[in-house]
Amino acid sequence: MSKSQKSLIALLGVLLLFFGFVIMRIGVAKPASTVKVAKIPAGEYDPAVWGQLYPLQYESYKKNADMSPSPTGYGGSVKVQKSEMMPELTTNFKGMPFSIDYTEDRGHVFAMEDIRETKRIGPKSPGACITCKTPYVEKFYKESGWGFAKIPFNELATQVPSHGSISCANCHNPENMDLRVINPAFTEAMQQRGIDVSKASREDMRSYVCAQCHSEYYFAPGSMKVVFPWEKGLKPGDMYAYYADKPNGFVQDWQQPDSKAAMLKTQHPDYETFATGTHGKAGVACADCHMPYVRKDGQKYSSHWMTSPLKDLDAACGSCHTQGTAWLADRIKTTQDYTFEVLHTAGQNVARAHEAIKKASEAPNADQAELAKARELVRKAGWYWDFVAAENSMGFHNPDQSLNTAAQANELARQAIESANRAAGINLL
Ligand code: HEC
Ligand code: HEC
Ligand code: HEC
Ligand code: HEC
Repeated sequence: MSKSQKSLIALLGVLLLFFGFVIMRIGVAKPASTVKVAKIPAGEYDPAVWGQLYPLQYESYKKNADMSPSPTGYGGSVKVQKSEMMPELTTNFKGMPFSIDYTEDRGHVFAMEDIRETKRIGPKSPGACITCKTPYVEKFYKESGWGFAKIPFNELATQVPSHGSISCANCHNPENMDLRVINPAFTEAMQQRGIDVSKASREDMRSYVCAQCHSEYYFAPGSMKVVFPWEKGLKPGDMYAYYADKPNGFVQDWQQPDSKAAMLKTQHPDYETFATGTHGKAGVACADCHMPYVRKDGQKYSSHWMTSPLKDLDAACGSCHTQGTAWLADRIKTTQDYTFEVLHTAGQNVARAHEAIKKASEAPNADQAELAKARELVRKAGWYWDFVAAENSMGFHNPDQSLNTAAQANELARQAIESANRAAGINLL
């Protein structure tokens, strides 16, 4: 071997050691090195017990108690009434509890406290409401199938101890820490779409664990079973068409007392909005942005502080985007401002449509067939508007669809007002 060959080999050796070290440091290998597979007994719902084995994840989970606004001015983790920013909510939800109390969402650790305190819950509220608030839903479902959904909420809630808010057991199998879904409504809805959740890839599970709660649903009349309206698809129009068939005898969430229209309340369609958007279609998962890999004492783990990615854009977006945090923050803020502008106008016009229909219905000889049309139009306008208003990212999860949906709501509200005018015999245009 010549001298130059020897020094080449020595150089290669040094390079190998160096890059080996770098690769170890940046931790290319997934999953993170902290995973110990130790058994936690089935039915253990106290995150502090899980935390003894997985302290890094538990410490970051506890940050879900942090309450701070989002720098964009939308969302955030402070419990404020949504009607402060959108006063039109009061008219658009008139006749049902969301008009009285509808606060901004905050961290998972507060889910049980917030539902116990909200004025939306009363003695008649069904146990079904507990489905997305606690891992104890696994126990309730094991004991009585969907039967728990009809038990009064207040009665079930007394069986949930103070540690019982959303935690580890909602998303992890205690035996091997695999990701899992425990809300049967999600598994059933996916089955209907031909997807077997028990065979889902790890990548898909990184969104499914969130989708089991962050999705639109309704309670089937009678049984109060939670159902996800996904049979025809995940877009706003697909779900509206699904509800038109009166599934399980479900006709409406409530009647708006001014217009007397049979209204639907959209419930946080975060998963549906994300799934049909740029990131969802590109295979990015909820956990990529909301549970990025972080590092402590050289150990790499998934942040369990599920909050606004704006609190750490480097971690949340930096693994895929190299544009820098200023660019990313600006993209988010711009999308949200544009969405809010159209959404707010649409919401105000939905409120005006309810009023116009009320006035038209009081007119002598009002055309009843035309009034029925106006009511159908305001039902649809309300659904499209709320699809964006109830979604939690103010458009970011799917910017083009959100703008389109808000614009359609606006146009439908205009048609409802026109139709109300026709019903009252006022045809100026
Ligand atoms: C809302 C769902 C959810 C909850 C609640 C949750 N996790 Fe996780 N957890 C995840 C996801 C998603 C991953 C990433 C898994 C992957 O990529 O394979 C993960 C990963 C992990 C890992 C693997 C190592 C890592 O950091 O990626 C451990 C250990 C873990 N979680 C522990 C816990 C503990 C302990 C709790 C309760 C204090 C908890 N998790 C609560 C969803 C959740
Ligand atoms: C068991 C149901 C459930 C699961 C599973 C779940 N969430 Fe939530 N999530 C909720 C509820 C309920 C709230 C609102 C809690 C409150 O306001 O009291 C919430 C709130 C949030 C918030 C708002 C936090 C803030 O600081 O404002 C984010 C972000 C979030 N969830 C993301 C996720 C992600 C990402 C996943 C999956 C990794 C997930 N959630 C899984 C039910 C769930
Ligand atoms: C590409 C990154 C990305 C993905 C993927 C993503 N989100 Fe988000 N999410 C965001 C951003 C950015 C916001 C806006 C945060 C803000 O306004 O402060 C947001 C907001 C939210 C909020 C409201 C947070 C708050 O402060 O009130 C919730 C809840 C949420 N996302 C849940 C989900 C769920 C569930 C999924 C998957 C179905 C998901 N997100 C997928 C980036 C993402
Ligand atoms: C796991 C990878 C991944 C993560 C994490 C991620 N993105 Fe993306 N992002 C993509 C891909 C893939 C696209 C599609 C276009 C492309 O190929 O560049 C995209 C597109 C975008 C676009 C342009 C399209 C649109 O929808 O407006 C913006 C803006 C964007 N991302 C912002 C963000 C922000 C902000 C975050 C963090 C909160 C984030 N992304 C996190 C992969 C990612």
